[in-house]
Amino acid sequence: MAHRIAVIGGDGIGPEVTAEALKVVRAAGVDVETTDFDLGGARYLRDGEILSDDTLAELRNFDCILLGAVGTPEVPPGVIERGLLLKMRFELDLYVNQRPFIGTAPGGTVPHDFVVIRENTEGPYVGEGGVLRKGTVHEVATQGSVNTWMGAERACRYAFELAMQRRKHVTLVHKTNVLTFAGNLWERAFHAVAADYPEVGTAYNHVDAACIYFVQDPQRYDVIVTDNLFGDILTDLGGAVSGGIGLASSANLNPARTGPSMFEPVHGSAPDIVGTGKANPTAAILSAALMLDFLGESAAADRIRAACAEAVSGSTTEIGDIIASRVAG
Ligand code: IPM
Ligand code: MN
Repeated sequence: MAHRIAVIGGDGIGPEVTAEALKVVRAAGVDVETTDFDLGGARYLRDGEILSDDTLAELRNFDCILLGAVGTPEVPPGVIERGLLLKMRFELDLYVNQRPFIGTAPGGTVPHDFVVIRENTEGPYVGEGGVLRKGTVHEVATQGSVNTWMGAERACRYAFELAMQRRKHVTLVHKTNVLTFAGNLWERAFHAVAADYPEVGTAYNHVDAACIYFVQDPQRYDVIVTDNLFGDILTDLGGAVSGGIGLASSANLNPARTGPSMFEPVHGSAPDIVGTGKANPTAAILSAALMLDFLGESAAADRIRAACAEAVSGSTTEIGDIIASRVAG
């Protein structure tokens, strides 16, 4: 049976890279039935819809969501990010953001292969806080970080499960020396889960130290688990040390499968290069490979990853064509 995919191309280069990703999925012989959803900044400017409850209910009927990128300079920052991307992550309970990194860090010689598991529904992203006396010298703004035992525990459990299929090592990244309340909750959840996986080795790094290791010694990592904001920042760095953000893929997963999971490149909508053919579709193609893993099509996903591993250059569609020609199998 065909996998039913909701496609949100979005803004800027989003639709361009998503088209290449679907081209490659089809070339790999996977049967997909796609439905386009016109969402993003452009849609919002046209009729005010960001993501209505009706549209969200429709999305729930699909096996997966493939997203390009959202955001346009004409809409103030936060509106589309919170109203569309974060709303999907929260409402569909996409509590794991899985971001793999394979490459050789600039200046390095030894290749690395690690995965960041970013908690995807909590931390400062929940929007807790507020502002008082805005625009005056007495202005006060607070932005709280929400950390629940359940949220940390399930992210850690996913990381340990993943490590069991890999090199059996998980590193917790946090800032326990300063964020003592949240850090302590994370540490205890991490160790409670670790007790269920005696074969898995563990480590802890402060997030600032992890930034140095990402650049100087990324081979030390297998699976990293961290909170939402640290994970956001670290995964841009992960992209930068693994061939660039044009290769960085991600899966927003609901591992309990109570709703569709969503797959998107780490990069944004890059409105400055829209229509130029300069966008590298590889991150979107690798995100589609993560989608195929989740749909039980791992053989096709592996072929796509192998096809992407050999460097390709060219325009957006040329890269898509070359990778598509390599996966036919
Ligand atoms: C990402 C992005 C988003 C995030 C933004 C666009 C809200 O940077 O997926 O990493 O911060 O999570
Ligand atoms: Mn980010």
